[in-house]
Amino acid sequence: MIIVKILALALSTSCLVATLPSSNGAIYLDPSSSAKERAEDLLKRMTWEEKIGQMGGVRRLLSAGLAFNRTSYDQVRALQNGILGYGAQLNQARDVLPLANKYRAEQMNSSRLGIPYITVTDSVNSIYLAGGTMFPATLSMGSSFNIPLYGQVVTALRDENMALGTHWVLSPCLDVAKEPRGGRVGEMYGEDPYMVGEFGAQYVRTMQQRDSNGYIKVATTVKHFVYGLNSGGVNMASMFGGMNHVFNDLVPPYIRAFQEDPMSIMVSYATVDRVPMSVNKYMLQDILRGSLGYKGLIMSDALAILYLLTSMVADSYPDSALKALHAGLQLELSPSQPAMFPYLAQSGNNSAAVKLVDTAVRQMLEIKFATGMFDLVLPTQENLKKTLRSAIHLEINRNMSRESIVLLKNGGVLPVASKAGTKIAVLGPFANIINAGSYAPNNSSDSSRGNSLFASLRSEFGTDNVRYVQGVDITDTSDNSGIKDAVAVAAEADLAVIMLGSLSVTLDDPLWRRRTDGEFFAHADLGFPGLQQQLLDAVLDAGVPTIVVLSGGQSFVLTNSTLRSNAILHSFLGGEYTGDALVDIIVGRVNPSGKLPITMPQASGAVPINYDYLPMDNLGGPGHFGSNFPISDWQLPILTRDPPMKFGFGLSYTTFNISAPILSVTGDGIVQISVDVLNTGKYAGKEVVQVYFRQQSSSSIELPVKRLIRFLKIQLDPSQHETVVFTIPHSEMGYFKDNKWTVDAGNFTIYVGSSSRDEDMKSANVILGM
Ligand SMILES: *[C@@H]1O[C@H](CO)[C@@H](O)[C@H](O)[C@H]1NC(C)=O
Ligand SMILES: *[C@@H]1O[C@H](CO)[C@@H](O)[C@H](O)[C@H]1NC(C)=O
Ligand SMILES: *[C@@H]1O[C@H](CO)[C@@H](O)[C@H](O)[C@H]1NC(C)=O
Ligand SMILES: *[C@@H]1O[C@H](CO)[C@@H](O)[C@H](O)[C@H]1NC(C)=O
Ligand SMILES: *[C@@H]1O[C@H](CO)[C@@H](O)[C@H](O)[C@H]1NC(C)=O
Ligand SMILES: *[C@@H]1O[C@H](CO)[C@@H](O)[C@H](O)[C@H]1NC(C)=O
Ligand SMILES: *[C@@H]1O[C@H](CO)[C@@H](O)[C@H](O)[C@H]1NC(C)=O
Ligand SMILES: *[C@@H]1O[C@H](CO)[C@@H](O)[C@H](O)[C@H]1NC(C)=O
Ligand SMILES: *[C@@H]1O[C@H](CO)[C@@H](O)[C@H](O)[C@H]1NC(C)=O
Repeated sequence: MIIVKILALALSTSCLVATLPSSNGAIYLDPSSSAKERAEDLLKRMTWEEKIGQMGGVRRLLSAGLAFNRTSYDQVRALQNGILGYGAQLNQARDVLPLANKYRAEQMNSSRLGIPYITVTDSVNSIYLAGGTMFPATLSMGSSFNIPLYGQVVTALRDENMALGTHWVLSPCLDVAKEPRGGRVGEMYGEDPYMVGEFGAQYVRTMQQRDSNGYIKVATTVKHFVYGLNSGGVNMASMFGGMNHVFNDLVPPYIRAFQEDPMSIMVSYATVDRVPMSVNKYMLQDILRGSLGYKGLIMSDALAILYLLTSMVADSYPDSALKALHAGLQLELSPSQPAMFPYLAQSGNNSAAVKLVDTAVRQMLEIKFATGMFDLVLPTQENLKKTLRSAIHLEINRNMSRESIVLLKNGGVLPVASKAGTKIAVLGPFANIINAGSYAPNNSSDSSRGNSLFASLRSEFGTDNVRYVQGVDITDTSDNSGIKDAVAVAAEADLAVIMLGSLSVTLDDPLWRRRTDGEFFAHADLGFPGLQQQLLDAVLDAGVPTIVVLSGGQSFVLTNSTLRSNAILHSFLGGEYTGDALVDIIVGRVNPSGKLPITMPQASGAVPINYDYLPMDNLGGPGHFGSNFPISDWQLPILTRDPPMKFGFGLSYTTFNISAPILSVTGDGIVQISVDVLNTGKYAGKEVVQVYFRQQSSSSIELPVKRLIRFLKIQLDPSQHETVVFTIPHSEMGYFKDNKWTVDAGNFTIYVGSSSRDEDMKSANVILGM
């Protein structure tokens, strides 16, 4: 292993290694020493200013059009030189690579001790720059409920990042999607803490896999600790909920991901119980470091330390830097100036701060050594070309798009027989763009990437048979003149396909002014923006069989009018193959298998609306008067915490019969759950077998009416069946009370089925711990 590494060094004379200072024999330059030893050795050689420099970096190397500003770059890196980000997302990876390499080599050269940058970027469903594979957004991938397939996606994403030279990503997002008005729901896996934990752990494990030399391929950042019911759905707003809520609903994905040792964690913007997280010593020290035992690096969110002045918990830049440092922050993300941590150079020179800075820098350096930043050669254009958008990555991407679309309603119109001459009217402002999400650096108006639904339908049914009318704008409410044309084209067609939704694209995208979804865009109204509903109502009034396709990283309120549609699909932010995957499903080449990762509310105000509500949440005002008052507190029309389109729900073209669970318990309290799943329909298909539980004996806090504890996606041919066995220790069926995990003895119900809806599950009871 060591020999291989030395060989790699010898071959790289033209790159980094030749430029290292001639500190012969220094432990930190010796790849055979451990990351810890090397970091310790280097730390001893560093000046105070050099240490502070590692606690920040250059976030935006290049502006749009590859523009580079030497003056501002040098100003920033004089004080912040730990990390490097690439800047504008729509720059092409192949153009940025040689520039990033140049500035990385220069930094290593010009730093006294030869300390390289580590490149850090967001990488949610694509590399940060244009030119990579654009996978579906996180919420879409959550809809797949397919953890092994997600592992394939993350492997591809990891390899594309490494080819670009990115060795540290600001993902995965472990936020639990509790607040549907939040703009960043599309960045989350879903509303259930267990499923978020399973996806997040897969991301960390796969990204941080070690290469043959023992280097961690790409370091990960779990985020945003901690973030849940943000006030009004507003991104940086304060968060509701006490510690039993935080521990039971928001912390479980972190506990799960920590088993995979994520190298860093990002603190949320949220104020928790009136203390902004960036100065929340209790949450960061007592809870994160203490109760949860987290050992990795703690970083700020972009500009969060500066915002301590907005919260007015600090009164100057140096004060905010010191307070954040003392709370536990170790790295500052500052995409724009001023940055706060450089002020530590003057104000932080006292023994307590020096100790904290040393700890922070040690952690930074350990990440750099562990990922091979001092040893590996810089990435090459050849390898970038070979890796980005390789045939296999594109195939994995198609597979993921196909599994992440959810069929919400099918009145029999789907699948559509691909008969010669079928005339299709394609309508709506989302039918001819790609709504790829704000972390997919492509241009939603650029048809060279992927196919829009319109383009995909044309290649399936023939150009002459498929006509497109946009009808209305995404957001504009001043012009409904296009609706007439849309209705006229629909009236002449055999089938109307109308794609509506909420736009989430990068800030560089030509359509960004139409954005209503994604970071910086909370949606108080969960209906369709602009005049889209008016367009849909008019088309449905025309009486043509109509398929509605939803687009956006959010749930939508489906009005009674919308529910008249013959079929409804939700494509979320399905990536560059959304159009092709939708057509695969529409014609029945692919049987839909996605499940809702978030519950669809029945009204914008009837939120939060998670499946795992507490028993009192649904009793309603007059509930105790019994059936004489069959109304809920959410007043007419009758609304409920159990809406028809709930977490875990999604239809297939086939039907599955999932038997009642058969339970057995071993002596040490491990419950074995066995169900038989039979494909009773005409099509091969995939089903997500979901296991929920509820404690029926009394508990010391109010517990949810049910909670997901296992799921597995399986594939079955018609008439084929499979016995699925789940193993769950009683010790997992507990809850946190006052920071302590508590497991009660008693009666538990185990539910197994195809969704979280009562009508889709069967149950059995088991007595445990007695
Ligand atoms: C480059 O950065 C400097 C320092 O921030 C600024 O004064 C100058 O206007 C910038 N130049 C351009 C062309 O943006
Ligand atoms: C780094 O330093 C070496 C030797 O001093 C020099 O040959 C090389 O051009 C420098 N590279 C950069 C990118 O500055
Ligand atoms: C920090 O304090 C030490 C001792 O108090 C002093 O020697 C050193 O010069 C100071 N460094 C800076 C950068 O102020
Ligand atoms: C994509 O899915 C198909 C169908 O399930 C499968 O045969 C193929 O192997 C998958 N491709 C990859 C790269 O895993
Ligand atoms: C996006 O694509 C459109 C259509 O091709 C083009 O007009 C526009 O310049 C592109 N924008 C960027 C930032 O590349
Ligand atoms: C979008 O992706 C395609 C395919 O890689 C590429 O040709 C096009 O230039 C990209 N557009 C932008 C604006 O990056
Ligand atoms: C929608 O339809 C349901 C069932 O027919 C009815 O109970 C409800 O009141 C309707 N909602 C509205 C807003 O009209
Ligand atoms: C579904 O399974 C149950 C018991 O597991 C059985 O009684 C029932 O007949 C099955 N239905 C079909 C359509 O196979
Ligand atoms: C367990 O709880 C269920 C649901 O309340 C109840 O029907 C069942 O009788 C209980 N079993 C025992 C043994 O108490």
